[in-house]
Amino acid sequence: MVLRKQGVKVAASLLALTMAFGSASYATSEPANGKSGYSQDQKVVARVDAERAIEHVRYLSEEIGPRPGGLHAEKESAEYIANVLKSYGYEVEYQYFPVADQYIADVAFADGTSWQMAAAPNGKVSKEAVSGEVLFVEGGTNLADFPADTAGKIVVMPRASSTAAYRTQVDNAVQAGAAGVILQSLVGSRGNYGQTFNPNLAAPVDIPVFGAAYIQGEWLKEKLAEGPVEISLSSEQFSDLESVNVIATKAPKQKNKDTKEVILGAHHDSVVGAPGANDNASGVGLMLELARVYKGYNTDKELKFIAFGSEERGLLGARYYVDQLTQEQRDNIEAVFVPDMVATNYGPAKNLYAMTSNGSNNIVTDSTVAAGARLGNSDILPGKFGSSDHVPFHNAGIPAALFIWMGIDSWDPLVYHIEKVYHTPQDTIEDNISPERMKSALDIIGAGLFDVVRKDVPALNK
Ligand code: BES
Ligand code: ZN
Repeated sequence: MVLRKQGVKVAASLLALTMAFGSASYATSEPANGKSGYSQDQKVVARVDAERAIEHVRYLSEEIGPRPGGLHAEKESAEYIANVLKSYGYEVEYQYFPVADQYIADVAFADGTSWQMAAAPNGKVSKEAVSGEVLFVEGGTNLADFPADTAGKIVVMPRASSTAAYRTQVDNAVQAGAAGVILQSLVGSRGNYGQTFNPNLAAPVDIPVFGAAYIQGEWLKEKLAEGPVEISLSSEQFSDLESVNVIATKAPKQKNKDTKEVILGAHHDSVVGAPGANDNASGVGLMLELARVYKGYNTDKELKFIAFGSEERGLLGARYYVDQLTQEQRDNIEAVFVPDMVATNYGPAKNLYAMTSNGSNNIVTDSTVAAGARLGNSDILPGKFGSSDHVPFHNAGIPAALFIWMGIDSWDPLVYHIEKVYHTPQDTIEDNISPERMKSALDIIGAGLFDVVRKDVPALNK
């Protein structure tokens, strides 16, 4: 049954690929250097192990947890990645860069559990905890929405849709005597459940005001249905922060002045409050697993494995990396592969897209689409999307592409589907990771990238 289904998929995909990529420079069968493309692919496909990649996802998302750019957890993540790469025999360096302050909230429960949220910089920011019983208030833009016994309680409200309106919610809560406010996120613009956020309060208030993810508000409601819930709110402003890129290098078999460089880079930070299993421990796990497999092979190009910091804060790590390069170094980079969200289990995200910022094909999209065709894997499709670390490379004229599982309705390319738990506390292995999707991404990206780096440097053939 499964086999038959796959057979149908393969046939359809080969047809589509011939149509779309009839003139692509990357051959779908025999490469010019005479090595069999398929047997080269097998050097990667037969060795990559999705479970090993997911073990990295587990460490990053469960052992460490949320990894906001510039904070200690992001340093732990960098150290973990560096240690894994060193254990495979790579030279590893750290590249530090400054990032803006973070305002991090902690919501602690009597049983010892605690949730990370974002704190309003203009609310009370203090490590000294404010405790109280949770009160869920629907509305809140009218003072009459608050019950008579609001004083001393921690008011949770679904955040009103404008900054002015949620400011009114906060002011009313203060007037009703609330000890703290938690605003629950709305459903996000990408159809996701909505992430934690720093409530943007123009004028200060002297109680803590936190921004919760939608699901955290729902969980609080569920707990309240069982009986009173007591929580403690504390928060901290983190200043003078540095974020970090981790860079490992695989030297080429032989180096001459024409030796090109190829990068496989994935961001290792996450948004506040999210364990970031798919976004983007998955991309890091894939990168580390490919680093393990490639170590055993000679390659003709310099290959760099980079874990970028602070992507979620504005693609900062990749931007910094590109900014530090000379024009000559930029010109020498042949391709940048950026896996970001490569293992979701969300059904409608049914294709692995190789996305460029402007939608045109390049060596990264061509090599991976061709690898998919050789492997009979129809998951991969080319596409157009920004929003990740490939953008700064593209802007500097360097061929780059993002790899992400998504569903795009062919009749409406403006509508795309990604997992609803994107950027939320539910971006966990349990709720959002598929070993099959991880394996497919490892195969396609692994074989496509291998095809690019193992190829003979033309100058050496002369
Ligand atoms: N992994 C996402 C990128 C993404 C998400 C691409 C959904 C396509 C669909 C990435 O980590 C992210 O969230 N990026 C930020 C970029 C911003 C901070 C410049 C985003 O898109 O909000
Ligand atoms: Zn991401």
